[in-house]
Amino acid sequence: MINDLWYKNAVVYCLSVETFMDSNGDGVGDFQGLQRRLDYLAGLGINTIWLMPFQMSPGRDDGYDVSDYYNIDPRYGTLGDFVEFTHGAKQRGIRVLIDLVVNHTSDQHPWFKQACADRTSPYRDWYVWSDKKPANADEGMVFPGVQKTTWTRDPISGSYYFHRFYNFQPDLNTANPHVQAEILKIMGFWIQLGVSGFRMDAVPFVIAEKGAEISAPKPQFDMLRSFREFLQWRKGDSIILAEANVVPKENLRYFGEDGDRMHMMFNFHVNQSLFFALASADTRPLAHALDQTRDHPQTAQWGIFLRNHDELDLGRLTEKQRQAVFAAFGPEKSMQLYDRGIRRRLAPMLGGDVRRLKLAYSLMYSLPGTPVLRYGDEIGMGDDLTLEERNCARTPMQWSDEPQGGFTKGKAPVLPVISEGPYSFEHVNVAAQRRDTDSMLNWTERMIRMRKEAPEIGWGSFDVLDCGDPGVLCMRYDWRNNAVVILHNFHDAPIEITFDAGIGEDGYVLIDIADGSDSRADEQGKHRMVLEPYGYRWYRAGGLDYLLKRSDI
Ligand code: NOJ
Repeated sequence: MINDLWYKNAVVYCLSVETFMDSNGDGVGDFQGLQRRLDYLAGLGINTIWLMPFQMSPGRDDGYDVSDYYNIDPRYGTLGDFVEFTHGAKQRGIRVLIDLVVNHTSDQHPWFKQACADRTSPYRDWYVWSDKKPANADEGMVFPGVQKTTWTRDPISGSYYFHRFYNFQPDLNTANPHVQAEILKIMGFWIQLGVSGFRMDAVPFVIAEKGAEISAPKPQFDMLRSFREFLQWRKGDSIILAEANVVPKENLRYFGEDGDRMHMMFNFHVNQSLFFALASADTRPLAHALDQTRDHPQTAQWGIFLRNHDELDLGRLTEKQRQAVFAAFGPEKSMQLYDRGIRRRLAPMLGGDVRRLKLAYSLMYSLPGTPVLRYGDEIGMGDDLTLEERNCARTPMQWSDEPQGGFTKGKAPVLPVISEGPYSFEHVNVAAQRRDTDSMLNWTERMIRMRKEAPEIGWGSFDVLDCGDPGVLCMRYDWRNNAVVILHNFHDAPIEITFDAGIGEDGYVLIDIADGSDSRADEQGKHRMVLEPYGYRWYRAGGLDYLLKRSDI
């Protein structure tokens, strides 16, 4: 079945309802507040919203501990408000993806409570148990340093339950057909309420075999196919975007050789080498990562991101590369997390250097895949390192210089608004940036427009071109006889480069998509140009047709 492949060329904006906009002054963001900001988002040009978890939850892992999959946390509004929101988004041509957190539930979920209370309950087998503490109970923690074990004793039934994440997040026994049927039911429910798909949390763990006796868990890839099939039957254009930080040789197993598993995956591999490139001005590992993640089914797509709501995980870099990124962007212990990553937002990581920020975002919009922007990135929001773990980068959206950054009329927002230093709401906010043509906000709007006008990136094939300097990434995309050439200079200095666009006469004239200026190849067909420090250029190949049409030559 051929579906509408809208996600191949979308621009995704990720936000948490809780910290986006509070409409009733209780200090907690809500759906009515978000609804009022839909025109802002439409104006920015994004066409997909990814909502972080908003279902009922004790909120011990920012909603990634769900206690009822079929209701929303009353602090955010009602199911009615949710449907008003999806409808409002649809009216503006914006699709909605939501988090699907089914590797585990909250320990407060009635299923888990019944499983603990009664060994004969049908819910007992919805979780993963062991009578004795398994020998490997202190292995495989996802949050090392904070999480002590992966097996915890339930005092009621006296046995140990498995939890890949925190101990209040018992793993579901996803091999149980009843659990699988429930996962489909959850998807069906939200699809019916207007969403276009899911960002599926912790996919490698969802499909892993689980149990005390399993030492080398095998992934159950068939599960992914059944999720996809169900979605396609219910609503043909709905998708799953998988959170799966896996090595490149695993990618096709997640996408499915025939494109019958996950529609999208976040490209963690490219993400890490991208930060190495920013830290070291060496783009070779990035070019290699792009090559390693090149292959995917035609209908699949990568999600390209810079920072997300978690730590920047550098676990897949070499020790030397990781240390280079730490030294450049997170030298202090308070900036690091879980022995493998950096917990800061991008703007402070890059020292607030607007040239570098623009370089990084231009790269995000131009790498092969669908860009995923995080709320607040469009104004260059900062972080608050006094907050615990990942909360430092989850502070409320800064709308204006009014009290609490215009996020709430109440006094005590759910997390403090950044109110000191260069990133405080008085300096960094939407209202001020709207009025300033040169602001990050207006730049982002222009950048998103430019991205949408270059469908070659989402649909086409790419080549990394040799321009003689590893500090410059030079890429060409081809699609339907059109090509774009995009350059990024990672050096803090101007640099002269020479390159052949690699498409013969078609590439002799390159027209700058942003300002219409052009670069013409010399007699050997080579372009020579100087890029500013941290400069970037987006060109469309004009070819001879373009030359013939121009009257000034
Ligand atoms: C991945 C999510 O991104 C993270 O925020 C969460 O803590 C874990 N999965 C557990 O759900």
